[in-house]
Amino acid sequence: MKRQLFDFDEKYMWRAIETARLGMGNVAPNPMVGCVIVYNNIIIGEGYHREYGKPHAEVNAINSVKNKDLLQESTIYVTLEPCSHHGKTPPCSDLILRYRIPCVVVGTVDPFAQVAGTGIEKLMDGGCKVFVGCLEEKCLELNRRFFTFHQKKRPYIILKWAQTADGFIDIDRSDEHYGQPTWITNELSRIAVHKMRADESAILVGTNTAKKDNPALTVRDWSGKSPLRLVIDRDLKLPSDLNLFDQSQPTVVYTSKEAPCKSNLEYKMISFNNYELEQIMDDLHQREILSLIVEGGQLLLNSFIFKDLWDEARVFTGPRYFHSGVKAPVFNATMVKSEKLDDSWMFVFYNKSYQNKIC
Ligand SMILES: NC(=O)c1ccc[n+]([C@@H]2O[C@H](COP(=O)([O-])OP(=O)(O)OC[C@H]3O[C@@H](n4cnc5c(N)ncnc54)[C@H](OP(=O)(O)O)[C@@H]3O)[C@@H](O)[C@H]2O)c1
Repeated sequence: MKRQLFDFDEKYMWRAIETARLGMGNVAPNPMVGCVIVYNNIIIGEGYHREYGKPHAEVNAINSVKNKDLLQESTIYVTLEPCSHHGKTPPCSDLILRYRIPCVVVGTVDPFAQVAGTGIEKLMDGGCKVFVGCLEEKCLELNRRFFTFHQKKRPYIILKWAQTADGFIDIDRSDEHYGQPTWITNELSRIAVHKMRADESAILVGTNTAKKDNPALTVRDWSGKSPLRLVIDRDLKLPSDLNLFDQSQPTVVYTSKEAPCKSNLEYKMISFNNYELEQIMDDLHQREILSLIVEGGQLLLNSFIFKDLWDEARVFTGPRYFHSGVKAPVFNATMVKSEKLDDSWMFVFYNKSYQNKIC
């Protein structure tokens, strides 16, 4: 049902979005969802989906209301359509009907095939007034990983690299300097990168980056889970003593060669036929990986850009000049956000196809 949405609706939906964000890093492959319950212009309850497999936002919000009698005269604001199916938890639309909440304001319809409008239908059939599309663009942006996963059948892809002020991602390194980090930005940027790793589900590097940088790709300077580590190694030529192969975290090696899997280390065969990225994306979709950071190097990032297979780019830019070295990827996109991190910057870009959809 469409009705004019008022400033106060948006105010409560903003609050629902804020609470939803608290689930970042803990709910995938579920969406982040926030919920606010309002009685007589006062918030009497709120909640968010805290952890995958645990109660949904609506359940937590309803449970937080002290006087449940007020629910019969309240409005419930929820960033995503309430579910209608029995998944890991019972349907939220049934719960709303059971408590006779008369009015439901929804941010966006759920693209998940088992919901996709049926939650709204169920509520309306049960006598609720349902209003859809309150701060819809913001709710779409909140769950851009979840929407991309369901609509494009692949993870939301974030390209990430650090570059100097003159556009280099590394010096030209000789073999004896392999494994030594090249500092481009600063400590604060490093923390931001570790937070980013804790927020996303998987992280991928190319063969040369694994060999030259020997990255661990774990979360150390932030709290949270490390992402699933992924590396391309067509001919299994990478040394076995690399950090990526320490089996401390689940790691997948995409290769053309057969190899026995070890604890936390899986070898996944793919064909190297110019469609390896698509095969990796299919594999990640099957593993229910909602989001992927591509952390370099140059060849790998450029192949994602060349195929227009990316959604967001985060470019950390430091104040140093290298004058020569490995050139940063070049791409065409509009910057949507910038953040100063001491003497460096993080610039965020959205791919045009994604930006057109949410704007
Ligand atoms: N500043 C930063 O943020 C940052 C981040 C990461 C890396 N780096 C730097 O980047 C440099 C390494 O970059 P790089 O361009 O030489 O190598 P890379 O992108 O790390 O790895 C490229 C290699 O991966 C394999 N590969 C297989 N399929 C691929 C595909 N579809 N697309 C791309 N690669 C594929 C190929 O190895 P085979 O030919 O053996 O199959 C290819 O040569 C290093 O100097 C590193 O320090 C900088």
